Amino acid sequence: MRQLQLPLKDNPYTIHIGENLLNDETLLSSFCIGGNVLIVSNNVVAPLYIDKLNEKLGDKTVHQLIIRDGEVNKSQSSYFKILDYLIGNNFRRNDTLVALGGGVIGDLAGFAAASYQRGMNLVQLPTSLLAQVDSSVGGKTAINHPQGKNMIGAFYQPKAVVIDTLTLKSLPEREYLSGIGEIIKYALLGEKDILSILENNFESLMARDSKVLEALIYFSCRKKAQVVANDEKEQGERALLNLGHTFGHALETLTNYSYYLHGEAVAIGMLMALKLSVHKGLISADIENRYFQLIASFNLPVSVIPSFDTNEFLAVMAKDKKNQSKAYRLVLVNDSGCIIQEETDEALLTSVIESFNA
Ligand SMILES: NC(=O)c1ccc[n+]([C@@H]2O[C@H](COP(=O)([O-])OP(=O)(O)OC[C@H]3O[C@@H](n4cnc5c(N)ncnc54)[C@H](O)[C@@H]3O)[C@@H](O)[C@H]2O)c1
Ligand SMILES: [Zn+2]
Repeated sequence: MRQLQLPLKDNPYTIHIGENLLNDETLLSSFCIGGNVLIVSNNVVAPLYIDKLNEKLGDKTVHQLIIRDGEVNKSQSSYFKILDYLIGNNFRRNDTLVALGGGVIGDLAGFAAASYQRGMNLVQLPTSLLAQVDSSVGGKTAINHPQGKNMIGAFYQPKAVVIDTLTLKSLPEREYLSGIGEIIKYALLGEKDILSILENNFESLMARDSKVLEALIYFSCRKKAQVVANDEKEQGERALLNLGHTFGHALETLTNYSYYLHGEAVAIGMLMALKLSVHKGLISADIENRYFQLIASFNLPVSVIPSFDTNEFLAVMAKDKKNQSKAYRLVLVNDSGCIIQEETDEALLTSVIESFNA
């Protein structure tokens, strides 16, 4: 098992990464404080893991609440279902809420924990690769509003994050590779260890080898933890984690969040950021090429299907990323990692985006 500290001033906590941690009774019960534990999960993940987890918390009164699978259920009604349950069963602030699932459950249950009696004990047990390397670390929690994703939420840190690499064995292939997309982002942000693991362990990664995954998840969480520790509330450096995301979000929006998985859209977004960085002389075409090969090798998309209208694409990007000076705020790649740049050259941006149109 590997451990990683998130050294936040007010709420320092540890991320535990290893094989079969859902079986580690001592570890789990050390964070699940209070007499009552509520495990929030969904109808896909719960049948696979909830009984095992339940057994390991033998000395507590363990409750379960199962939400229906899917992003549409990161909703106000699911949120109130959790709160109703907590209130109805007299949970106290120092009882524990456990989020067992992917990023949807982590965000939803995390926000319920943040707001129940102004904050109850929370433990994140992420089971998707994306949740293990991204959403469970850093304390962002949220639910969606019909008018926008993640519109209602809070920064709320868990007591611990426990990552069991064995849970990845049951993750659908496409979800798994989408998680690899998010991991490639950390390589681009300058994590050489990650790039080397991804380039040299293709077979083991496709077989979901626990040891290789443990290292990969460790280095990913270490990078995220480092950025979050410097900038918990996203006033500056944390924005670097948006690499590939401004482009990626535009793609997700244009396709109604129903065509691409998040990591797939981010993969294309990173390639757009790389191409723009080459055009601006920040990196050589060799680097762009290296990442193109890497992304393609994991079967992630490298061009956009269905085709799109570039003006619409820019309009979506402009909606949240253009500031008063009419520049697009973008994360670009340079030789030492990434930088945030204000892009004003709309013609260049248009030609870069257009080149990904299938
Ligand atoms: N809080 C943050 O910082 C942050 C960061 C990135 C993404 N997010 C959020 O995370 C969400 C996406 O997360 P996600 O990609 O994990 O989606 P998800 O939670 O929908 O999980 C993807 C699919 O995999 C299934 N699944 C999860 N673990 C499994 C397992 N071990 N075995 C079998 N099936 C499993 C889920 O039931 C679901 O069908 C989005 O809502 C996004 O906004 C939050
Ligand atoms: Zn992301």
